[in-house]
Amino acid sequence: MVLSRRTFSTIAGTAALGLSLGGSGEACVAAATAPTGPAPGTPAADRRRHTVGFDHYSMIVDGRRVVLWSGEMHPFRLPSPSLWRDVLHKLRAHGYNTVSVYVSWNYHSPAPGSYDFTGVRDLDLFLRTAAETGLYVTLRPGPYINAEVDAGGFPGWLTATRGRARTADPAYLRHVDEWLTAVNRIAVRHLYTRGTGTILLYQLENEYANHVTEHTGRAYMAHLYRKVRADGIDVPLFHNDKGRNGHWAPGTFDTGGERGRWLYGFDGYPSPFKRPPDWGYFGRGGPEGGSTASPRTPGFLAEFGGGWFDPWGGAEFRGKGYAESRRTRDAAYERRFYLTNLANGITLHNVYMTFGGTSWGWLPAPVVYTSYDYGAALDEARQPTAKLVPMHQIGQLLHHFPDLAKLDRAEDVSVATPGVRAYHLVNPDTGAHILVLRNDGPSDTVAAVPLGGTTLRVPVRALDARLLAAGISLGRRTLRHSTAQPMLRLAAGRQDVAVFTGRTGEVTETVLECAVRPAVTVLEGAADCAYDNGALRVRARLDGLTRIAVTGGGAAAPLLLLLADDRTSVRLWPRTTPSGPVLVYGPALLRTAVLHGPTAALTGDTTEEADLEVWAPRGVAAVAWNGTRLRTRVTRSGSLRAERRLPGAGAVRLPPLTGWRRKAENPESAADFDDSAWRTTDLARSAATTPVPAGEPVLFADDYGFHYGDVWYRGRFEGAAGARSVSLSYITGTQGLLMAWLDGRPLGTHRMPVPDAKTVRQGTWTATATFPVAPGGGSHVLSVLVRRMQHDQDGRADDTHKAGRGLVSVTFDGASPAVRWRIRGEAAPDPVRGPLNNGGLYGERQGWHLPGFRGHGWKPAYFPRSERRQGVVWYRTRFRLSVAPGTDASIGLTLMDDPARAYRVQIFLNGWNMGQYINDVGPQHTFVLPNGVLNTRGVNTLALAVLSDGTTPSGPGRVDLTLLGRAAGGVPVTPVNSPGPAH
Ligand code: GAL
Repeated sequence: MVLSRRTFSTIAGTAALGLSLGGSGEACVAAATAPTGPAPGTPAADRRRHTVGFDHYSMIVDGRRVVLWSGEMHPFRLPSPSLWRDVLHKLRAHGYNTVSVYVSWNYHSPAPGSYDFTGVRDLDLFLRTAAETGLYVTLRPGPYINAEVDAGGFPGWLTATRGRARTADPAYLRHVDEWLTAVNRIAVRHLYTRGTGTILLYQLENEYANHVTEHTGRAYMAHLYRKVRADGIDVPLFHNDKGRNGHWAPGTFDTGGERGRWLYGFDGYPSPFKRPPDWGYFGRGGPEGGSTASPRTPGFLAEFGGGWFDPWGGAEFRGKGYAESRRTRDAAYERRFYLTNLANGITLHNVYMTFGGTSWGWLPAPVVYTSYDYGAALDEARQPTAKLVPMHQIGQLLHHFPDLAKLDRAEDVSVATPGVRAYHLVNPDTGAHILVLRNDGPSDTVAAVPLGGTTLRVPVRALDARLLAAGISLGRRTLRHSTAQPMLRLAAGRQDVAVFTGRTGEVTETVLECAVRPAVTVLEGAADCAYDNGALRVRARLDGLTRIAVTGGGAAAPLLLLLADDRTSVRLWPRTTPSGPVLVYGPALLRTAVLHGPTAALTGDTTEEADLEVWAPRGVAAVAWNGTRLRTRVTRSGSLRAERRLPGAGAVRLPPLTGWRRKAENPESAADFDDSAWRTTDLARSAATTPVPAGEPVLFADDYGFHYGDVWYRGRFEGAAGARSVSLSYITGTQGLLMAWLDGRPLGTHRMPVPDAKTVRQGTWTATATFPVAPGGGSHVLSVLVRRMQHDQDGRADDTHKAGRGLVSVTFDGASPAVRWRIRGEAAPDPVRGPLNNGGLYGERQGWHLPGFRGHGWKPAYFPRSERRQGVVWYRTRFRLSVAPGTDASIGLTLMDDPARAYRVQIFLNGWNMGQYINDVGPQHTFVLPNGVLNTRGVNTLALAVLSDGTTPSGPGRVDLTLLGRAAGGVPVTPVNSPGPAH
């Protein structure tokens, strides 16, 4: 046995480990188990027909078991198609094999019969990019999606239609069919079954529960099923049950005689402060006692918390910001909960969200603010977080060890360690054993685990978990067991490579079956190796990358055993190529790996300087990185290593924002404003679920075709002499407000009370604003601006998205004049930026937010500002960026001011509404500006629409560009079309 003297002398406590360090020379015999064949292939639009099926263990694709490790992202929350590729690359590199996407009906449909899939809405491009990246797709086009978007994804115009939504009401189904026809026309071009794309699964509806037992509910689901099949979608369909209730399990509704192509899925968002729930092999079972609530379909978590959304700040229901979501649902949370899911027989996992993105414009539902970062593994600025570590490790594990796709519960293992729970599973075909150990206690511990006649000592941290395997194949050798978690195995050239992981500093034991003594060399790091009784034992303290070469005469190939601590594990990038697997070590991200003859052509990112090392198939002798050929040498590990380190990202300089110009608006508040072209509120009946007061006209904006953002009302009246006050009752989403003027003079601003947990649940935001008035006789005009915020979602399928928005009624104290109202909301939707980009502010209607708008007469302005005024003031400036080509800079806009100041800002970048800042509510201060919308090499236009209550001085205070991340590499970014005003 060959030992590295240097490394062994550095091991602390080797003797205490009690292992003999063996002699030398004998060979390790090839493992008894036969190699299991290549790792499952990478999905692509390969023009071949594929079969997509399942049994109760897992999905079966082309006859091979596949565990889905899926990340949720929403293309509509990243309005820059080039960056979709960036996020998809990151998912793929970090071990996800599937991307799950909602398609939001409202995002694509400005009006009935009008469906837009161009520009930032290019679903076809998204699906092509996913296929090019090598990811399966789960498509979720609703029609209802929830997802913390306006009306749960229903278009604004649908709120003004008759027909009970989410039921078999024919008036509603007519609209649904139109939507599904439009989406399915695109989806059908990307089905994996046909080899024209990678859509593997397709979801109907979303957490549909209210009408499970009612005829109208079952008829609705049957209708959706029939419609989607008629449109040519031939992959398995499913629904996501809100909890494992058995709702819409196979056989519970009419699938037209079709069997075996419907999956049961459910969602789980368990509290991080409770124990992870058991729901498969170890659970008590669903309502009917079946262990998964659907015994014939595989365990399927269609959504499982990879973070949580955050509400607006404010007094009682305070959003704390996404750092808090990431803290309470940290890497250990994900490991503890997802490994428990795996132990419970779940083989379809979808991590909601993996990249949350931005609810830009008027997309956010009332419960959330602009950022939908979600505390996800990839943050809103596309930067990796520490939460990617467990996701990467589990994803690679599931991909490289097919044993995990078919597990049965095995006899219980009793772990005599307080607080530690053990789950024992076995693959009935390969005999591989899997143990998941979970520590629900508050302290780190070392569990004593009886396995295969010995007792293993396994470190498990507080509120954490780990997975152990025994009897799995590492290629041409078999693992007897390891206390480190297996991450991957592959054959690179002549040697097998196996990677195990764990937390830095942990002592791990890895034992390989070896009939005779192997030759062992510790190439890097500290390890204690011993051969005894048919097994090679390797003990190592995890720190960086420990490398051990195991060579044995009888074995068909040498094995390179790599023990990687957490931070090292996310620098190891396995890839399959048609010529065989590749393993890259070093850079911050590997995007693509292509073998051109003897050259491994790699693309990816570095943040800091990084080493680059490549294990590749035989014959590969050269490496290129981002198009540059590197000088390499062959290492003792059998890899090619770049002689020089890859450079890190260069500096990114952001200019200060200066040169502001200012213009006040709201001419609508003036007594003599000409509103003759405005719509008269002449409707007597509303589609809203909110009652219209008897004898009053309908005032809800949706009924008059205004669905998003601000809406103006002007009401004329006479005969009000003696009036002492006017009461305006109105309804909005949370954080809505109303401001009023009488004959041009401000009456004041009323803000919706900040909702508490209860009112948020009920989704009712109605209030009455009462202002003292003394109008006297004659003719008067009331001007009212309502910031509606958004429509409620419809989670319980009771039409809550149709709650009214805008004014409800007006009454006077001391007089009863009849008010004749006119209404004005948003202009026709921006044909490029879409229906959710704009509300009805004067400046928006005039295009003040657009690049190229010529603001004659705008006055210079300097921040911080302090001005007391009720109404709207706009600020515009331009700035130039010159980020170096090849640098991916992620940039945000940060607003800061004295939190006592009552104002809010809509942020327009090159005409795109990047969100809403509420200075005295928070918690969001930084708004991500996605590259593509942001011109990183040229001029940008920024416009701020500031709405001030008039109760305090108003800002803006500080407004700065902020660097949120940078990397050398990135993806090519095509500018997002940002037209100016039509002249
Ligand atoms: C689920 C729902 C998703 C999303 C999530 C919370 O219940 O299906 O659309 O709303 O909750 O973020």
